[in-house]
Amino acid sequence: MPKVYIETMGCQMNKSDTERMLGMLEHFGYEETKEPKEADLLMVNTCSIRQLSEDKAFSTLGTWGKWKKEGKSHIKIGICGCVAQQKAESVFKRANYVDFVLGTHKIYSLPDIIKRINNGEKVCECTETNKSEDEKAKEYSIDRVKAVNAWIPITEGCNNFCTYCIVPYTRGRERSRQPETIIKEAKDAIKDGFKEITLLGQNVDSYGKDFEDKNYRLADLLKELNSIEGKFRIRFVTSYPTDITDELIATAKELDKVCEYFHIPMQSGNDTVLKRMNRRYNRETYSKIVNKIRTQIPDVTITSDFIAGFPGETEEQFIDTLSAIDEFELDYSNTAAYSPREKTVAARWVDEFISEEEKTERLARLNDKVKEGCLKSNKKFIGRVMEVLIESFEKHKGTNIVTGRTRNNKLVHIPSDKDLTGEFVNVKITGCKTWYLNGELT
Ligand code: SAH
Ligand code: SF4
Ligand code: F3S
Repeated sequence: MPKVYIETMGCQMNKSDTERMLGMLEHFGYEETKEPKEADLLMVNTCSIRQLSEDKAFSTLGTWGKWKKEGKSHIKIGICGCVAQQKAESVFKRANYVDFVLGTHKIYSLPDIIKRINNGEKVCECTETNKSEDEKAKEYSIDRVKAVNAWIPITEGCNNFCTYCIVPYTRGRERSRQPETIIKEAKDAIKDGFKEITLLGQNVDSYGKDFEDKNYRLADLLKELNSIEGKFRIRFVTSYPTDITDELIATAKELDKVCEYFHIPMQSGNDTVLKRMNRRYNRETYSKIVNKIRTQIPDVTITSDFIAGFPGETEEQFIDTLSAIDEFELDYSNTAAYSPREKTVAARWVDEFISEEEKTERLARLNDKVKEGCLKSNKKFIGRVMEVLIESFEKHKGTNIVTGRTRNNKLVHIPSDKDLTGEFVNVKITGCKTWYLNGELT
């Protein structure tokens, strides 16, 4: 049996694509290996969000290219994901040992591509589609990573064109998958023993906006998924602030399986910067949305993303970002220093770029603020009894520990000699650190 190794970088959407590609490859007789040196087919599923992620992709390819040139001439090498979509044929010039380039729109062409490269062809498949490739998903099984949570993409692409972001160029316009396909995948995952499903989308709350034949949105999908029998949890990420409707909040509150967790990237706490980022809200609008969610859904966790050192960002404007984390009591945030990306509008504002030193310094202060907020948020739960879904079991410094998550997505470590992976347990929270809670089984 030929062996395939896929190295996956970037967001959950890529991880989910990898599970689908492995499913297709298994169907065609490939076996997955975790050891790149054993593989006949090597693929890197790439991310393009920052320059660093793109560089990492080419460095991985470079290593494999060396193996191929230094004796292992039979191996086939492929690049897929967001860098592939963006660079297309030009990859062959930069890395002539690459056999195929597969963009994000056409992952279901993989079986055909494999046939062609095995006939000695070099293949680039990066054409864009404006419809979801849904139908083809039904022909193959999904080789899901064995875990407690199953990732299910519901919409791909983005129509927002924030001035810093490459995603609209690498993932194309928004394409929602059909509810039946999603519901079937969810039912299969539950039947296979998964205890949680997370619905994925670059803007998950835009789901259904592109349906011409029906009025069917995220709230409708959540209702149908909630009615699937069995004990499991439902999550959804990532939400664009102004697409969170009152109906979505009410639905999330009402449905027992939908968890008290919203990931709503704010990007900056300053109105001028938000405008220059082409975000469609200001600080006040964001505040209203967060307050609405907090007043309606007790114990809800709200997390965000922020960029430090966007072109032209002044020290005062940056301080507005720090104060937003305090004011909105954000429970956690992903952070990054601004990285100029090809084709994007802000990448042209070279005269206003912030120096690397300044960006690094702001990012460090931002991370300190995130830590502070996270610890404050964790402390609120000490003394409470919470439902935890256990995700792993390991020996840690001489004690056996199980680790899981609360409904509101807090990580909890609990001493236990028994492996409780996949079980829902009630846990008394006894203490916390910045990134996790400590608890005891009740
Ligand atoms: N659709 C989501 C974000 C998807 S991209 C939203 O609208 O919020 C994930 C995160 O990467 C973004 O939230 C942003 O914080 C970060 N990011 C995107 N482009 C970036 C860039 N050029 N430099 C630094 N961070 C960036
Ligand atoms: Fe990127 Fe903005 Fe689209 Fe999010 S909404 S994926 S940040 S362009
Ligand atoms: Fe990266 Fe593409 Fe995801 S750029 S963050 S892998 S959508």
